Amino acid sequence: MLPLLTSCCTASVERPSTSHPKQVCRISIDSDNARTSIVPGHVQQGKADGGRQLQSATFLVKYDCNLNCKFCLNDWRGKKRPNDELAFEQQKQALQKLRDAGVRHVTFTGGEPTLHPRIADLIRHAHSLGMTTLLQTNGTRITDEFLRAVQSFIGGIQVSLEGLRDEQKAISRVDCFDGIVANMRKIKQHGIKLFTNFTITKLNKHCLKDYLALLDDIGVDVASFTRLYPAGRAIDNWQELVISGEEYAAFLRELKEIEKTSKTRIYLAGPTDTAFLLDNGLDFSAATCSAGRNEIAINPNGDILPCPSWNKPVGNIVKTDVKAAWEQGFLADLGEQHDGTQGCMLARARSKTELEPPVVGEQALKATSL
Ligand SMILES: C[S@@+](CC[C@H](N)C(=O)[O-])C[C@H]1O[C@@H](n2cnc3c(N)ncnc32)[C@H](O)[C@@H]1O
Ligand code: SF4
Repeated sequence: MLPLLTSCCTASVERPSTSHPKQVCRISIDSDNARTSIVPGHVQQGKADGGRQLQSATFLVKYDCNLNCKFCLNDWRGKKRPNDELAFEQQKQALQKLRDAGVRHVTFTGGEPTLHPRIADLIRHAHSLGMTTLLQTNGTRITDEFLRAVQSFIGGIQVSLEGLRDEQKAISRVDCFDGIVANMRKIKQHGIKLFTNFTITKLNKHCLKDYLALLDDIGVDVASFTRLYPAGRAIDNWQELVISGEEYAAFLRELKEIEKTSKTRIYLAGPTDTAFLLDNGLDFSAATCSAGRNEIAINPNGDILPCPSWNKPVGNIVKTDVKAAWEQGFLADLGEQHDGTQGCMLARARSKTELEPPVVGEQALKATSL
């Protein structure tokens, strides 16, 4: 079972029941056959079904990237890049430590992970340790040689395609659309599950219909749509990018309509406040915030973070016991403060300080408790 992950995500998806706000259905996306299984569950006393359990890790293997996205959450961008990335052997040891701490799934990301000269070996190593894997990539550097090297043990590849040609260029500031689309077709030709991610902004929210027609044509298995997080360069470009709650609701209504005829399975990634969905009559599956609940992230230097967007190290994987870091201190406190369904906890924490309330769901923002 491969949890479908995007930039800051989620071992599961919660569908709020319109008849009972506290009842949810847990939906797991199984990458082996891209089917969805739905298991009813209940939110009780503020805790999502399943509780706190470390299940997945997002492993940033490189700082570098060959694109320059306006919203990139990596907050080393634009600053002097640290020269402290883990060496390959340390990365392999980090994978073993994650496995020992209970991690069952690893998402390899960055920066751009395909810039790592031994990314295929890292994926193979994670697989040999019994973990499922996902590669999260901008899709510009995928080669047949790489695909041949990983096709028998990778769980899937998620390509960030942020719109059609004009939108992709406006966001990434590189003319890379045609190459990405060609590489997506290659991924399918190699029989690898293909996922996409689209981060919703003012610059691309208008192209949904044509975008999904393209994904259908390529044969994308699951398309994720992610709300913008207030992290990294997105903070600098916030007003240019962020959409309002009304615009977000309108976007989701359009998405719901298109979903009726789309061949591509649609997934609302990036933690969304389920109260917002209910308030707007949106019967949508939505990702939960997994910070402190099910996921950790590892920075290229080994720092252990609550999620890839939340640059608050709770230790370093070279010397910190991952299980201990999970079971006590900030991660444990954070995980006890939410049940995953209240939206992005980082956005809430930030909305108190650096930004105006950035995310949908005024109720959720009022409930901020960090
Ligand atoms: C940080 S990138 C790293 C992997 C790779 N370079 C890529 O673009 O897929 C991972 C994902 O995060 C998303 N992302 C980046 N900044 C974001 C932000 N501020 N809010 C929400 N998603 C963001 C990107 O769209 C991408 O899908
Ligand atoms: S979102 Fe991905 S592709 Fe874009 S700048 Fe960040 S790391 Fe690079």
